Amino acid sequence: MARALDLNAVRSEFPILGREVNGKPLVYLDNAASAQTPDAVLDSMSNQAQTAYANVHRGLHTLANETTEAYEGARGKIRQFLNAESDENIIFTKGGTEAMNLVANGIVDMIEPGDEIVLSVMEHHSNIVPWHFLRERHGAVLKWVPVLDDGSLDMEALQAAVGPKTKLVSLTHMSNVLGTKVDAKRATEIAHAVDAYILIDGCQSGVHLDIDVQDIGCDFYVLTGHKIYGPTGIGALYGRVAALEALRPYQGGGEMIEIVEQDRVTYNVPPHKFEAGTPPILQAIGFGAAIDWLSAFDMDAVRAHETKLLEKATAELSAVNGIRLHGTATGKGPVISFSVEGVHPHDIAQLLDRYGVAIRAGHHCAQPLMTHLGVSATARASFALYNTEEEVDVFIEALNKARGMLL
Ligand SMILES: Cc1ncc(COP(=O)(O)O)c(C=O)c1O
Repeated sequence: MARALDLNAVRSEFPILGREVNGKPLVYLDNAASAQTPDAVLDSMSNQAQTAYANVHRGLHTLANETTEAYEGARGKIRQFLNAESDENIIFTKGGTEAMNLVANGIVDMIEPGDEIVLSVMEHHSNIVPWHFLRERHGAVLKWVPVLDDGSLDMEALQAAVGPKTKLVSLTHMSNVLGTKVDAKRATEIAHAVDAYILIDGCQSGVHLDIDVQDIGCDFYVLTGHKIYGPTGIGALYGRVAALEALRPYQGGGEMIEIVEQDRVTYNVPPHKFEAGTPPILQAIGFGAAIDWLSAFDMDAVRAHETKLLEKATAELSAVNGIRLHGTATGKGPVISFSVEGVHPHDIAQLLDRYGVAIRAGHHCAQPLMTHLGVSATARASFALYNTEEEVDVFIEALNKARGMLL
């Protein structure tokens, strides 16, 4: 039976949520940057390290075998979480950024000058800069799809941007600034109609959406551990078999090879072909534990709770004088970006910190979106399943006080 969302019980599994900041109880609303990590995840890593730790894949001794089993078990959990075809479709990376770089490096031989890569203006820099490398070094052309006034992706513009020269479409599944969700399945149909690859950046959506990569049909899907209650230093790239086979390996080293001689090298099969060197073993195990921990909940209750927090915060923020909300698309994820007239977002975040409230301010690694919105930065509050309605009240109260001090 699914676990009920009892907030007191859940919060007790995150000792950090009980601490004070500047003499006030912590209100942690920076979950879109990194969510906090429950005891179950930390315990999974320390238990592994204390009882069965060695390098993976290499040993013929018990500890090596047990560690390999746990590491490969984590891969199986990610596969299940994404509903991927098989464990071979899942590559561990050190995060979302490395997954995107792996694909950009992997397709380099397929890029001719003038080939097009289609992106949206709301992408995170990690889903922009690797493609800029292909522009700078290989003559690829970046084509940009705008967002509509409510922050939703302009699907007609996407359709118009994709054409015979498109090699890859790379889109976020959920914006880290606007909370906008993208219809990844429709985007995949559009990309595949011209035989282009499509990558979906699920770094934000992983924790908020039910993901089925086979249903979406995408070639690549990216996850990162630290936004799904897992540790940092770990992420995953899903690739369809044909897409992975076509990619050239990203890094060279141990484990990713089949044969190495003085004048030739042949490569291991995916996923090992893309996991050179000793991987982040404990982090992968922690990532698997985070997936287990999250998946145990009644996810409808989790989604409903996060939506309630979003709606409450949106309504209360809208009532604050001089507020501009960025991103109001229907069904958006629990992320609110906002500007306060006449006040720099950094000042708001710093003053909120005095009241124990942690929000983020800046360009959120999304400068093309900032340009599109006509701002240099925004303030952002983002919710996780452990946040409470009382915390929303504290946030709004602190914001009103901060505004009063700054204006
Ligand atoms: C939408 C999106 N893509 C990619 C990333 C990068 O992920 P990572 O920090 O795991 O490299 C982030 C992180 O903020 C993100 O929000």
